[in-house]
Amino acid sequence: MVVRKTPDEVEKIRAAGRVVRAALNAMGQAIVPGKSTTYDLENAAIAVIEAAGATSAFLGYAPQGHPAYPAWTCISVNSEVVHGIPGRRVLNEGDVVSCDVGVKLNGYYGDAATTFAVGRVSDGADRLLKATQEALYKGLDKAVAGNRIGDVSAAIDKHVRAHGFSVVRDLVGHGVGKSLHEPPQIPNFGRSGQGVLLQEGMTLAIEPMVNAGGHRVHALADHWTVVTSDGKLSAHFEHTVAVTRGAVRILTEGD
Ligand code: MF3
Ligand code: CO
Repeated sequence: MVVRKTPDEVEKIRAAGRVVRAALNAMGQAIVPGKSTTYDLENAAIAVIEAAGATSAFLGYAPQGHPAYPAWTCISVNSEVVHGIPGRRVLNEGDVVSCDVGVKLNGYYGDAATTFAVGRVSDGADRLLKATQEALYKGLDKAVAGNRIGDVSAAIDKHVRAHGFSVVRDLVGHGVGKSLHEPPQIPNFGRSGQGVLLQEGMTLAIEPMVNAGGHRVHALADHWTVVTSDGKLSAHFEHTVAVTRGAVRILTEGD
């Protein structure tokens, strides 16, 4: 069952979303090629989240069969797709780093991700980042009341394919708001006209994960870090949004 939020609840998710965006901005600003570690980016996010009186939605998160997630944010470099654990790895010129932040504020959750280029990156990497962000916005364009989840999914996949890249199929977007993960699931591929009907007040985390090569991924021995099976680059852009009868309202952008 997809639970729709009241306008008051949407404002609470927006408040969490502002903190998410501020944390992501701080992570981007903490990037110094050849100097900063992924742990430095984690610390930049922690400072913002703590100052806002919010908490991490990820720290301690433990789905069935998984150890508890050990950090406040997820930071995934190059062929790491999502759920990378911050550590001592230094970010070097030419890397791409996917930063994912979820926070809880006053009982409500916001969730967003951005892939940053570290200094100058290859043309291929640059095209991957642009195509992934564009694919997210193609999906958001379809996230209006009266459409279906499949309209969002198909629009994302279509844009990604047009660039010769692949959407990850094993991981999906999700409803968000009172919990980090709520129904419905939002795959980044599918058929338009199919799936859950979108209605005003639904709050969704739409999050294309896009591989430069094939769609296959697997988890590392740490049980969390998801990597591309062919070792090629991956990118991830995510927004939390509220469905309205008009254009979607993005709850995790700056203002
Ligand atoms: N933003 C991701 C998601 O939507 C990350 C959650 S996994 C966690 O699923 F363990 F880090 F929380
Ligand atoms: Co998410």
